[in-house]
Amino acid sequence: MNTIIMTGGTFGLGAAAAQCLSASPDTRLIIGGRETHIPLDLASQSSVRRFARQVLDTLGKIRINALVLNAGLSFPTEARTEDGYETTFAVNHLGHYLLLRLLAPSLARNAIVVLTASNTHDPLYSPVAPFPYVDAYQLSQLDLGKDPRGGVAFEAGFRAYATSKLCNLLTARAFAHSNEVKARRLRIIAYNPGYTPGTGLGRNLPNGALPGLSTALSPYFAESMRIQAGEVLADLVLGRIVPPKGHLYASLVRGQLTWPEPSELARRDDVSQQLWRDSAVLTAMD
Ligand SMILES: NC(=O)c1ccc[n+]([C@@H]2O[C@H](COP(=O)([O-])OP(=O)(O)OC[C@H]3O[C@@H](n4cnc5c(N)ncnc54)[C@H](OP(=O)(O)O)[C@@H]3O)[C@@H](O)[C@H]2O)c1
Repeated sequence: MNTIIMTGGTFGLGAAAAQCLSASPDTRLIIGGRETHIPLDLASQSSVRRFARQVLDTLGKIRINALVLNAGLSFPTEARTEDGYETTFAVNHLGHYLLLRLLAPSLARNAIVVLTASNTHDPLYSPVAPFPYVDAYQLSQLDLGKDPRGGVAFEAGFRAYATSKLCNLLTARAFAHSNEVKARRLRIIAYNPGYTPGTGLGRNLPNGALPGLSTALSPYFAESMRIQAGEVLADLVLGRIVPPKGHLYASLVRGQLTWPEPSELARRDDVSQQLWRDSAVLTAMD
């Protein structure tokens, strides 16, 4: 049995990936989401802990073969989580960091961990660059402000999203360099699915904020992009696509998967280690 634990498998490109994963033979797929059998709200650290405990109780001695950290949001409607952190940073980064730390001891030898990142982490590709620093304490306390219609201010909201995706890449890097990963020969991948229309990610975007992204794609084309982004994610999780040696960033852009270098900041070991340590404090895992 191939045991896979996944976040963000209920909607968008993750739902397409989950469909492929559950269709693969001898697979046990456990999806955590706000309305799944084993509930998970990444905005709440106590919910993440409860989810991890329930998963481990369900599995008993069975080891996890793949962990897929795919959930994500942008432009949250609640500025702060119940733990008092800025919601984009808390859901996209801190919740996943905590889940990774809690489940890592139960990963099987040669297990695969995929974190869904984004090329918005890179100022060279993002329509709005991430913040030029990664300070977990500062990011956790950001005030994203309001636009005149009451939503999150566009620029700060997009920067917070892009920075949270940078944190996913830095987490992948820090974890990949850990003794835990080396000893058990784990495979760590950060995945950029590329611009994927028709998912729920832009649901809170201020109207017309990104005209380039809302161009009238045919629904058929948009759907085929979502399916492809999900299929590639599933192939990475099932080990059907293997990273070239020394690479952990898989990037799908216009239908082509490549293994480019991530941004300069995403390659900094000092920054990734600092984020790892600070996130441990913010999730009480130190
Ligand atoms: N769409 C794009 O253009 C694009 C581009 C680059 C990267 N990405 C990344 O791809 C991933 C999937 O995005 P998508 O476009 O498919 O988004 P989506 O359609 O909005 O799906 C988001 C998923 O995340 C889950 N989620 C959101 N908040 C959660 C929370 N508090 N607790 C638990 N689960 C939560 C949702 O589950 P429930 O609501 O069921 O709980 C849902 O399954 C994200 O990490 C995103 O950053 C997307």
